[in-house]
Amino acid sequence: MRRRRYELTARFYDLVSLERPVYRVGREAGIAALGLRTGDRVLDVGCGTGLNLPLLRAAVGPSGAVVGLDASSAMLRQAHVRIRRHRWTNVTTVLGDAAETPPTIGEPFDALLFTYTLSVMDRWRQAWSRSLALVRPGGRIAVVDLGLPTGRWRLLAPLAWLACQAGGADPYRRPWQALTRTTADGSHEVFRAGHVHVAAGSSPCG
Ligand SMILES: C[S@@+](CC[C@H](N)C(=O)[O-])C[C@H]1O[C@@H](n2cnc3c(N)ncnc32)[C@H](O)[C@@H]1O
Repeated sequence: MRRRRYELTARFYDLVSLERPVYRVGREAGIAALGLRTGDRVLDVGCGTGLNLPLLRAAVGPSGAVVGLDASSAMLRQAHVRIRRHRWTNVTTVLGDAAETPPTIGEPFDALLFTYTLSVMDRWRQAWSRSLALVRPGGRIAVVDLGLPTGRWRLLAPLAWLACQAGGADPYRRPWQALTRTTADGSHEVFRAGHVHVAAGSSPCG
């Protein structure tokens, strides 16, 4: 099971995740596309070890709120280390399956963020629709996820495929299309030769 993989690897995730050379760029672009303002409430779905948390906390400031949801208690333990280190009082986590929406999550949110998670989740379509219900009308949503390099970079596809296998991600799922299909103002950017996709838009309920 994909979730079990993260229970086992949580302690090493930040070290082996190729964050700086490969994946950080998508995280930064996705968060920038949310257009967060001071005081906003943002939900980080599948927050993992909390690599997004410093950027989200900086964007919403001390008067905002950041909630990280994850199904892995081991990943959340790493996120808590980060939260404690920074003494953030407005960054919290919820343990639960995004496909089931834990009742303690609180709503509505001004923004939703999915970084490298929808390609990993077992019931990602259910997680997607449940999460959409938690964002206010007109709220911002960003999806950052993985594909395989194409065109002249397709020689790198086996490497990208291996990276996806290591993380349990399905590189053929293309979850960002769920966002670009349902929003009138959707944007889509591609980084790392087609390996990293970033889509953003406003809540379709808006
Ligand atoms: C590749 S990691 C990405 C973590 C983080 N978003 C990041 O950008 O580093 C995928 C995360 O999704 C979480 N996850 C998988 N299935 C989930 C589900 N159904 N509900 C909530 N979280 C889930 C895993 O526990 C893991 O922390």
